[in-house]
Amino acid sequence: MNIIRTTSAMTDWSRRLHREGVTIGFVPTMGALHEGHRALIRAARLACDAVVVSIFVNPTQFGPAEDLAKYPRQLRLDRALCAKEGVDAIFAPPAEAMYPAGFQTIVAVPTLARLWEGAARPHHFQGVATVVTKLLSLVQPDISWFGQKDFQQAALVRRLAKDLHLPGMLRVHPTVRERDGLALSSRNVYLSAQQREAAPVLYRALQAGAAAIRGGERRGERIQRLMAQTVKAERSVTAEYLAVCDPSTLELLPILQRHAILLGAIRVGSVRLLDNMPVAIRRKP
Ligand code: PAJ
Repeated sequence: MNIIRTTSAMTDWSRRLHREGVTIGFVPTMGALHEGHRALIRAARLACDAVVVSIFVNPTQFGPAEDLAKYPRQLRLDRALCAKEGVDAIFAPPAEAMYPAGFQTIVAVPTLARLWEGAARPHHFQGVATVVTKLLSLVQPDISWFGQKDFQQAALVRRLAKDLHLPGMLRVHPTVRERDGLALSSRNVYLSAQQREAAPVLYRALQAGAAAIRGGERRGERIQRLMAQTVKAERSVTAEYLAVCDPSTLELLPILQRHAILLGAIRVGSVRLLDNMPVAIRRKP
């Protein structure tokens, strides 16, 4: 397995493979790899001849008061997981290679970045959009994988890739969860045992919302209230948003018609957790 540290070595590697007719699958990550990342890597392994995983804790997507400094970094463990999964190359550049002195170009996707996670984390999505543009340009993948877990990020990357004609196709992989429903996340390591026990309330709230919809409820506000009530029962948790949205615009849906996405973010102590659940409404025959 190659460990690639420079942007020029990354482009050389992918050019050489493309010349040989090899297809490249790409999984961008910030490392601290878990079963969610592993599922994306396996999907890439199945679909492409060669797989590259990027491990880069991207400073531009963290706010000044956020967890950039303490974000888990464990390259040795990540290398072992990648080697076991048959990854061909890890792209792990230092921050100076991605953002050398004089760097100033920023990619913005203003409308999608304004809502939900974007409202809670100003500049987060322009950091994501900028780094994803750079990564896709460097890696030149045939297919890239993103997780449904970060629904807004996946929607924004889709828009970005289309608008800027970025290389390759995009695939979104379903969310991988713990047995009790908690979505896997590199940030789950921040949770104390007690907080870990409380955290699955977010998944239960989304399930309660989806069950209400299956039961015939179509009013967005009612569904939101129900989800909020579920979270309230867990006293150590506060809801940041629990919203019933249009899956393509992410705007609030007052009345559900065909498809919806339930989006949620909670705070457990100082840890923010995200999750979402897509729902499709079957028309009566
Ligand atoms: P990171 O949080 O490391 O996630 C990398 C990819 O794994 C993302 O596409 C994310 O949605 C996916 N993922 C995380 N947890 C998952 C789960 N439980 N099930 C399925 N997929 C999951 O997201 C980022 O990094 C960064 O913003 C990045 C896109 C790499 C840009 O810096």
